[in-house]
Amino acid sequence: MSISIRQIHPVFVGEVSGLDISRPPSPDEVAAIEAGMDRCAVLVFRDQKITDEQQMAFSLNFGRLEDARGGNITKPEDRRLAVGMNDVSNLGRDGRPLDRDSRVHLFNLGNLLWHSDSSFRVIPAKYSLLSARVVNPAGGNTEFADMRAAWDALDEATRAEVEDLVCEHSLMYSRGSLGMLDYSEDERAMFRPVRQRLVRTHPVTGRKSLYLSSHAGAILGMPMPEARILLRDLTEHATQPRFVYVHAWRTWDLVMWDNRQVMHRGRRYDQRQPRDMRRTTVGGDAPTVAQVTA
Ligand SMILES: [Fe+2]
Repeated sequence: MSISIRQIHPVFVGEVSGLDISRPPSPDEVAAIEAGMDRCAVLVFRDQKITDEQQMAFSLNFGRLEDARGGNITKPEDRRLAVGMNDVSNLGRDGRPLDRDSRVHLFNLGNLLWHSDSSFRVIPAKYSLLSARVVNPAGGNTEFADMRAAWDALDEATRAEVEDLVCEHSLMYSRGSLGMLDYSEDERAMFRPVRQRLVRTHPVTGRKSLYLSSHAGAILGMPMPEARILLRDLTEHATQPRFVYVHAWRTWDLVMWDNRQVMHRGRRYDQRQPRDMRRTTVGGDAPTVAQVTA
């Protein structure tokens, strides 16, 4: 069976058929997936019953795996999954949902804000691959917004205003917007803000996109409240329903997205219900902008 990709949203998102992710793909299949990612920015694969090892092996066809360290406040001894896997569940090591007031759980609620994975890293993520192992009976969708379509729909004056701006991103900005303001010295050092361009150009297609994320909390050369109003305005613009795809999870779905071209967010669900989602992250190639000013 050969691989085929059918676009399922007016501006992006493809559903892939004819591929079994548990087996190594051929070079032609990898090329077809990459071309699909360049075009659709989000790909949905149904019925992919895979192990963590198979998920990591599949992800490695598209680049190196990002090190999950520095992306959360979970202590190494509390980790549920192997290095290379990002735990996007609500579970502790005992396999049960975390307590409602657990700091790790509250921190992880930041995933329900619009963001681009690892935009708080100097070299932000290229692709994310999320595998659904246990899904929620109600709620818990993941939404994706096409940042290329958002850029395309901006008026000329706004494009000129934002094109060369540089933002500062930090997990403390996204979590701070939820009222989580207390961090240890080690966490402050780990979450030190990094710089990212506000407008990116895709290396293959040349398409421009807004590089927004709830991790963005400042813009260089702009007073913070002014920057935050601008970022909110742009985010409102970029997440209009016409640019958004809503993914309703089925067990063993795998969804793969290009963080350079889309934002995403989880939606609320009953936190007492177990949810087991596992992510691999393919690292990017380079910073979007220099980190140090002259
Ligand atoms: Fe995410």
